[in-house]
Amino acid sequence: MCGIVAYVGHRDAAPLILKGLKRLEYRGYDSAGIALLNGALNVYKKKGKVKDLEEAIAHETLQSTIGIGHTRWATHGEPNDRNAHPHYSASKNLAIIHNGIIENYSSIKKNLIKKGHEFHSDTDSEVFVHFIEDIQINAGCTLEEAVRLAMKEVVGAYAIVVMDATNPTQLIAARKGSPLVIGVGEKEFFFASDATPIIEYTHEMIYLNDYEIAVVRDGELTVKNIDNALQSPYIQTVELELEAIEKGGYEHFMLKEIFEQPRSVADCLRGRVNADNGHLVLGGLREYTDKLAKAKRIVIVACGTSWHAGLVAEYLFEELARINVEVEYASEFRYRNPIIKEGDFVIAISQSGETADTLAAIELAKSKGATIIGVCNVVGSSIPRATHAGAYTHAGPEIGVASTKAFTAQVIVLTQMAIAVARKKGSLHEDTFRRLLFELERIPHKIETVLQSDGKIKEIAEKFKDARNFIYLGRGYNFPVALEGALKLKEISYIHAEGYPAAEMKHGPIALIDAEMPVVFIATKDSSYDKVVSNIQEVKARKGQVIAIVTEGDKLIPTMADYVVEIPAMHEALIPLVSVIPLQLLSYHIAVMRGCNVDQPRNLAKSVTVE
Ligand code: G6P
Repeated sequence: MCGIVAYVGHRDAAPLILKGLKRLEYRGYDSAGIALLNGALNVYKKKGKVKDLEEAIAHETLQSTIGIGHTRWATHGEPNDRNAHPHYSASKNLAIIHNGIIENYSSIKKNLIKKGHEFHSDTDSEVFVHFIEDIQINAGCTLEEAVRLAMKEVVGAYAIVVMDATNPTQLIAARKGSPLVIGVGEKEFFFASDATPIIEYTHEMIYLNDYEIAVVRDGELTVKNIDNALQSPYIQTVELELEAIEKGGYEHFMLKEIFEQPRSVADCLRGRVNADNGHLVLGGLREYTDKLAKAKRIVIVACGTSWHAGLVAEYLFEELARINVEVEYASEFRYRNPIIKEGDFVIAISQSGETADTLAAIELAKSKGATIIGVCNVVGSSIPRATHAGAYTHAGPEIGVASTKAFTAQVIVLTQMAIAVARKKGSLHEDTFRRLLFELERIPHKIETVLQSDGKIKEIAEKFKDARNFIYLGRGYNFPVALEGALKLKEISYIHAEGYPAAEMKHGPIALIDAEMPVVFIATKDSSYDKVVSNIQEVKARKGQVIAIVTEGDKLIPTMADYVVEIPAMHEALIPLVSVIPLQLLSYHIAVMRGCNVDQPRNLAKSVTVE
């Protein structure tokens, strides 16, 4: 979703900001813009990619040591040059970049129009900067004070940076509900939606809190809260390496991230699991494992791929720990007056840690007395800060919009949680506990083995790249994997795909099956194996094209299926960690063959910071 980059210091701001905006491209956007103080406060903006903006301004003299830049993912108003950010105030002395939504913008706009304001875009963001300037003029106050007063009036979510033509060393930023990170250098400051545009200049960062205003003036930073009280911001050293946010020789980030999974899963296990001495500890949950073991009910809230990881967790917690689990779309949960009682546990799963609906679901559950556990990837993001406890997934930055390594990292953390809680509860036999730990340690190697089938999967992709529909079927632990496989395909190749529980196929999708229909079965040797074999026969009887993900050495399914990809044998509860890999590769290759923009699929955002 929208990306913010701003800079004030001694460097040439324009190339730094444009490069930073490219680092944020993965978030998803449809237009880009930049404002600089080069003679006057000049705004340059354009529909399309950052490179389109660069081409459009190539002939300009862009010398400036201060600037703000933005990539916009349209909410109010269509994606076009006019609606792109930055936006000017009425006098053109101020320019704003804004990530989020101002819900009461239309009433503010009406009042401003009555006062004679003219607007040049359809955005809520332009209203915000006009409003700030109007307050400043009427109250005769500083810009900082005007921003603070405006924050008291606006309803919604925002991260903003405001630049002022009359104050060439000053940037003012504020946040409520949308992420904003400040990089602290030597007499220079960087503002961004996440750490990726900043990391090559400094590792020292401040994550601004809600209702905080940061002012940089003459090389000094002050942070105040909405009541004007001075804050002492915590400067943390962010351990992110530049290589982690670059492609490292791969054609796409998504492919790099798929191939990173042996390492990311191993990182997620490191220090937490040791099968030799029966050790399993999730540091951030040490105090909560006991409490979770006594929980009567766990509610999981998440969106998208993270929701699929939540479904896997439902199977894990119910089977291993015998705890009742409900998995909720955060966006539904928050508007449904859900029944949450004191003593309930809510697990919020999020790669970005910024998803607006998940964050709102957490706040709602908290207000009803639940204990909130976070499973997040981005360290320091909003969700881990809003939870009582949690475990990071340590997958490293995920840049491809289609989530891959974050999913396996979420599942491995949730698996460890379920095993730890089951162990505490006494619902897991010692032998099974030991076996699960032993097998967990071998998952990175098993993923590695499956990645070696890449060439074969590419051949399968070639056969099906022109398909118009796909069905993905699985049962038990492989049902969420079927959903995830279908999501991956539709996200990046724009082929319609549906995931279904294999048996449920008879209640609808079977009507779609003919010789043109590819059906992907996740048909591993597990407790549903025989049933899934029957489902494959049902599809073949209707001439469907079957691609089956099977367990190594399976002799039966290869006699029925048209194409087979083998994965190693493992404990049933761990299969999703490995069975999802061929599906990620299949969707990747099909999307590449169809000429799609794999890393930045149309209309999608990596981090959905608006509801
Ligand atoms: C967006 C992304 C998905 C992601 C979902 C939830 O739709 O494109 O890949 O699964 O948001 O995001 P989260 O960061 O909360 O996991």
